[in-house]
Amino acid sequence: MNPILSDALHIIAYTTLVLFGHRIFLGFYKIFYVFLFSKPKNLKKLSGGANWAIVTGSSDGLGKAYANELAKNGFNLVLISRTLSKLENVKNMINEKYPEIEVKIIAFDFGKSCYKDYEKDIFPVLDKLDIGILVNNVGQMHKYPDYFHLFLGGPEKVAELVTVNTLPCTILTAKVLSKMVERKSGIIINISSASGYHEMAKWSVYSGTKVCVFKRG
Ligand SMILES: NC(=O)c1ccc[n+]([C@@H]2O[C@H](COP(=O)([O-])OP(=O)(O)OC[C@H]3O[C@@H](n4cnc5c(N)ncnc54)[C@H](OP(=O)(O)O)[C@@H]3O)[C@@H](O)[C@H]2O)c1
Repeated sequence: MNPILSDALHIIAYTTLVLFGHRIFLGFYKIFYVFLFSKPKNLKKLSGGANWAIVTGSSDGLGKAYANELAKNGFNLVLISRTLSKLENVKNMINEKYPEIEVKIIAFDFGKSCYKDYEKDIFPVLDKLDIGILVNNVGQMHKYPDYFHLFLGGPEKVAELVTVNTLPCTILTAKVLSKMVERKSGIIINISSASGYHEMAKWSVYSGTKVCVFKRG
């Protein structure tokens, strides 16, 4: 083989190997960084001393875990979810572990509410508090993956899923952001999903809403 062509092929092969290896290393680094190297941030400092945190979808799953962790870090909580009895359980659980933490609960169905309902049921509570952290967690998934026209529950369920996954995080961020900007501090956490980075087949509605959360964040 022509030596120049052979050298060129070697350079291309080694460059590809280095780039490929770099991507694999970065992938693992991102996964293990959180567990091995990162240090917890000082949430009190980042939230500028404002000692209330809002967590949506906090009666279960990730939201409940966020609520617990924020209480552990000394934040009073506004917990917003659909089912009152589940919210009361979370409130009791937190009060037992952290009696010094104040917990307000709001039973609110994000899927069946419009802006006026936020004004009536949520904003009056928030207006009296100094909000340092907003965790936009509430979200729904498809019951199972399927073609769009076979979506379980039909157009009504599609509308509910899109509403729950996009409206609360947008409206609540708009509500708390101006005070945070004024104070030059505050934390907003938007829970998206891997499907917001890579669209997943037959999860298109969920994926689309998570792209919205991801890009807006
Ligand atoms: N779990 C995962 O593997 C995963 C992966 C990627 C991203 N995520 C995202 O992480 C977030 C939390 O997921 P999760 O698995 O922890 O959820 P989950 O366990 O199903 O909990 C959902 C929470 O949202 C509340 N909720 C649902 N619909 C509501 C509505 N219409 N109005 C008010 N509250 C409502 C539920 O309240 P009630 O039960 O009281 O109704 C519950 O507290 C979601 O945004 C999800 O998309 C999850």
